[in-house]
Amino acid sequence: MNTSEAIRTRRSVRSYLDKPIPKGVIEELLRAAMSAPSAGNEQPWQFLVIDDRKKLDSITGINPNAKMCKEAQVAILVCGDATKEKYPGFWVQDCSAAAQNILLAARELGVGSVWTGIYPIPERVQAFKKHFGLPDHITPLCLIPLGYPAKDTAHVDRFQQNRIHHNSW
Ligand SMILES: Cc1cc2nc3c(=O)[nH]c(=O)nc-3n(C[C@H](O)[C@H](O)[C@H](O)COP(=O)(O)O)c2cc1C
Repeated sequence: MNTSEAIRTRRSVRSYLDKPIPKGVIEELLRAAMSAPSAGNEQPWQFLVIDDRKKLDSITGINPNAKMCKEAQVAILVCGDATKEKYPGFWVQDCSAAAQNILLAARELGVGSVWTGIYPIPERVQAFKKHFGLPDHITPLCLIPLGYPAKDTAHVDRFQQNRIHHNSW
């Protein structure tokens, strides 16, 4: 699958097979994440890989919108590291680019994924920080549950000509 096909056919996958994801595949996803562009190449990211069944199951207690963790094999918590920032505030864009790379690489490797939002909801950020013992300088941006898809997802074309503007509004 080429990049453009992965981009066009990626959809959020929220139900998974009971089939382990090889460690090498997770490493590929993290390599894709760390290949993302970042402001001044600051690379202000850290990744927490959660593959412990009890920990995955416990996530619904802190984020009901991440119920799919009960079926997921692994989840990656994408975090910003304030000590790595050269250009304050850009960490959200940098880490979002890293998160999107995970979704696209997962699609290419046949792994289902979904972005579940954490930042900027203060209570959710605090809940994840406490639950996973994150130090003060680490802020969770999103959690990406992963698993082989239990069913195929329909592809949709979201192209909208009326969202495109040329030279001036
Ligand atoms: C910032 C952000 C937060 C999201 N949070 C959640 C979430 O908490 N739970 C969830 O199931 N999906 C979440 N999603 C996935 C969206 O619901 C999904 O991307 C959207 O409905 C479009 O569907 P698609 O990903 O299949 O194209 C989130 C996506 C983004 C980008």
